[in-house]
Amino acid sequence: MERKIVSPCVMIIFGGTGDLTHRKLIPALYNLFYEGNLPDSFAVVGVGRKDKNASEYKHELQASLEKYSRYKIKPEVWEQFSKKIQYYKMEITVSEHYEGLKVFLNEMDETLGTQGNRLYYLSVAPSFFEMITKNLAQYKMAENVDSWQRLIIEKPFGHNLETANYLNTEISKVFPQENIFRIDHYLGKEMLQNMLVIRFGNALFESFWNSRYIENIQITSSETVGVENRADYYEASGALRDMLQNHMLQLLALVAMEPPAAIDAKSIRDEKIKFLRTLSKNNAEIIKGNIVRGQYGEGKMGSKPALAYRSENGISPKSNTETFIAAKLIAGNFRWGNMPFYLRTGKRMKQKTTKVVIEFKSLPEILYFKEYNGMQPNLLEIRIQPSEGVSFSFNAKRPGTQNGITNVMMDFCQNCSLENNSPEAYERLIADALKNDQTLFTSWDEIEASWSFIDNIANIWRQEQPQFPNYAPDTYGPSDSDVLLTNNGHKWWNT
Ligand SMILES: NC(=O)c1ccc[n+]([C@@H]2O[C@H](COP(=O)([O-])OP(=O)(O)OC[C@H]3O[C@@H](n4cnc5c(N)ncnc54)[C@H](OP(=O)(O)O)[C@@H]3O)[C@@H](O)[C@H]2O)c1
Repeated sequence: MERKIVSPCVMIIFGGTGDLTHRKLIPALYNLFYEGNLPDSFAVVGVGRKDKNASEYKHELQASLEKYSRYKIKPEVWEQFSKKIQYYKMEITVSEHYEGLKVFLNEMDETLGTQGNRLYYLSVAPSFFEMITKNLAQYKMAENVDSWQRLIIEKPFGHNLETANYLNTEISKVFPQENIFRIDHYLGKEMLQNMLVIRFGNALFESFWNSRYIENIQITSSETVGVENRADYYEASGALRDMLQNHMLQLLALVAMEPPAAIDAKSIRDEKIKFLRTLSKNNAEIIKGNIVRGQYGEGKMGSKPALAYRSENGISPKSNTETFIAAKLIAGNFRWGNMPFYLRTGKRMKQKTTKVVIEFKSLPEILYFKEYNGMQPNLLEIRIQPSEGVSFSFNAKRPGTQNGITNVMMDFCQNCSLENNSPEAYERLIADALKNDQTLFTSWDEIEASWSFIDNIANIWRQEQPQFPNYAPDTYGPSDSDVLLTNNGHKWWNT
């Protein structure tokens, strides 16, 4: 169900020379243009403080497109697309510079017919979020009167509940909530949206989607890379704030929420919030025994030597920042009771994968079946990235004259059959913001619920000194993460 983008507008990227713009935003816009999904009257203005002209800027973006675009660059398409790109040099900390930007944008309205509509994208350090919105207000660049002005904000939204609350209050003074688009790019991923179809479009799954039939649900988001060049950011956030507060809890909410009344922004967000609030049942006592944190030490990734986190560039040799978290959570609501949700995320792990595994309950062993060896629980695995697809494994008779069981799998691979079939998350999200559809963006209530849960964990951690490092690279994390499951008679499904 693809709706047409109708509104002409100018998209302004604060941070137009940054890494995210080069790797994700401009490729997303090129691919939207390639597929005819941008309005005719459209322009994108990259804002940066480096001295360069539009032509130099376009050259740099073209080089990045060659590397990162989903579609191969066609010269005739690039020629048309590049006409829509402009560069504007300014200091975002200097208030008067916004006046110049305003004049520049107004002139574009005259020549392009973009009608004063603006999509502001804050692809800069979070410390600038408040300053930019205040300046937009001061120069009346976000009035939302005869035209619309929307704001896309990158994560992280705050560092804890208090700072997120403050940021939300300040931004809301300038932009109404319905014009604020808080990005969690996981929500733009094709398989996350597919999760709703799998759940609510298949009687087989939705009828069994509760603690009477499901033994546990596991969500893993693991990376093989270390901290790379994001030392400052990561030291302050760790896996708790970088992954659990946003991506992991969003994934969990989509897996566990009640069916929404409709597939629209409000109905889906309402259900996600209701679920996220159930997490407050995981009080300090429960959290203490059910959350494992880790930090990688020195070792090898395959045959290559890998530094310990504490030896990485820009990281304190005494750092206690966690690069791994595993959690056992309960929702305690009617659907899920005390069934455990296991979540884990980490760096320098054995596999790069994001997936959800639903482990169904095993059948009681009646006498006859005891003759069979190797019965496995049914597993539904939803793979989100890098491989996208769904598999379902079940038991069947091993062919032959003897009784025996073999575990077989039905597999649907979403990204191996058709070339370029899955749009990048940022394509979908930018297209939705242009269409004014907030379904795949995070509401303030969701952020509030997730930060209160994360703050509880951070407070408990502050009282205890971790024993770091506690896992080797190229593994599945600390052994305590396995114990978390074996204590309940479960195990991580690492396939
Ligand atoms: N990169 C990613 O993969 C990624 C992923 C998720 C979220 N994010 C979030 O996205 C945002 C941007 O990240 P990034 O990696 O693209 O950062 P980055 O590469 O460091 O880029 C920062 C941008 O901000 C601009 N800037 C900084 N100070 C400025 C000033 N005083 N005046 C004008 N422009 C200024 C820089 O312009 P100059 O180059 O001209 O100095 C540059 O364009 C951050 O909030 C980050 O948390 C990034």
